[in-house]
Amino acid sequence: MSAVPAVVLVGPMGVGKSTVGRLLAERLGVGYRDTDDDIVAEQGREISEIFLDEGEPVFRTMEKRAVRTALAEHDGVVALGGGAVLDPDTRALLAGHRVVYLSMEVEEAVRRTGLNVARPLLAVNPRKQWRELMEARRHLYEEVATAVVPTDGRTPEEVTQAAFDAL
Ligand code: S3P
Repeated sequence: MSAVPAVVLVGPMGVGKSTVGRLLAERLGVGYRDTDDDIVAEQGREISEIFLDEGEPVFRTMEKRAVRTALAEHDGVVALGGGAVLDPDTRALLAGHRVVYLSMEVEEAVRRTGLNVARPLLAVNPRKQWRELMEARRHLYEEVATAVVPTDGRTPEEVTQAAFDAL
């Protein structure tokens, strides 16, 4: 286990976890890690390919393992994929960490991500998909969060500052 619990970023796809995560890590003088990147590196293929080849449940198993490993090995900033909080064991694992939920409204999400074939969950009818995703997940993000930072209308630098202040 790492000596200092990591700062974890959660929130929906496209909210800026990677950008803010890197900026926040720089600001804190610690490393940055992203569980999606870990899965891509380990598997040697993109997340969209894993979804297509093996389906979402297989991806979720990989994700659960990647989160557990990242939190055990890394004491900097760790960004999780948008759906990582769906898993109850992952949510339990987050207890005791500083968890910043980067939030955004549905319309902002639609505007930022649009129709996105690289994001398998948004490949058809993104507005409807976003509404459903947010309804299913908002309370899970809130459950694990020790701080909530709204991102609508804010630059990555402003969001980073707000996240830093909230730690
Ligand atoms: C997903 C979010 C993605 C990626 C996968 C599934 C989700 O990560 O893990 O496409 O279920 O919301 P980002 O939130 O980093 O885009």
